[in-house]
Amino acid sequence: MIPTDLDEVFAPLEGAKRFVVGQLGQSLDGRIATASGHSHYINGPEDIERLHRLRALVHAVVVGAGTVAADNPRLTVRMVEGPNPVRVALDPRGRLDPGRAIFTDDAAPTLWIQGVDAAPCVPGATTTILHDNVEIVRMPTGEAGFNPRDILAELNARGLSRVLIEGGGVTVSRFLEAGLLDRLHVSVASLLIGSGRPGVTLPEVQSLDEARRPRVRHFRLGSDLLFDLDLRSEEA
Ligand SMILES: NC(=O)c1ccc[n+]([C@@H]2O[C@H](COP(=O)([O-])OP(=O)(O)OC[C@H]3O[C@@H](n4cnc5c(N)ncnc54)[C@H](OP(=O)(O)O)[C@@H]3O)[C@@H](O)[C@H]2O)c1
Repeated sequence: MIPTDLDEVFAPLEGAKRFVVGQLGQSLDGRIATASGHSHYINGPEDIERLHRLRALVHAVVVGAGTVAADNPRLTVRMVEGPNPVRVALDPRGRLDPGRAIFTDDAAPTLWIQGVDAAPCVPGATTTILHDNVEIVRMPTGEAGFNPRDILAELNARGLSRVLIEGGGVTVSRFLEAGLLDRLHVSVASLLIGSGRPGVTLPEVQSLDEARRPRVRHFRLGSDLLFDLDLRSEEA
């Protein structure tokens, strides 16, 4: 019998002062959205409740520019009780529309992380206070974009030590590859999209001996199956 208790899902995170958890909701064939970026909804209501409980548990929720552009998410806690986390958008080129909900709705503070070379809103500014609750933070980019460690250091310096990397696949994969995720929730819905945006993508390995095999717990959430990966178990 696969457990269905959401409290059990969150037990490893409750009370922890510091953690980084990634999450993705995907189809059986590993897609998080169609090629055009349509992703509402792959998972059912029980899984969406899980996501809102995760948001309520963290200080900051991080998404990539692709998600902000495609979904125009609010990233607030609506299905459960709890505080809204600080919203963090990774936008190295400063390509996002300032009219997106997280930059205009004032529902929670938002950090808009842009590359130092992105066109500044205010010429010469390194940090700019925008619309009330929105702050632009400029960070250096290397060949692979922002170093995820720099992003966590920036958040930690602000006292944001419980962090959710909410998506999409590119963003979660970069934190996973950098070894910075403590846990990863992968919620699998029984549909086949057949094409579209992938979930986790990591550098190629030659042999299955090199594949990652963290300890996992399974939960049934409505018609979805949640895999809760303990990524620190690989270090044991
Ligand atoms: N099912 C789910 O759980 C779920 C969750 C979230 C989103 N989604 C869907 O997923 C799709 C978007 O996912 P995606 O994988 O295509 O994109 P994404 O991860 O949302 O965004 C990727 C982009 O964010 C920026 N970025 C992220 N990490 C960075 C880093 N370390 N350094 C520099 N830049 C970084 C880059 O922007 P530039 O492109 O400007 O370089 C990168 O191309 C949307 O269609 C959304 O609907 C699904």
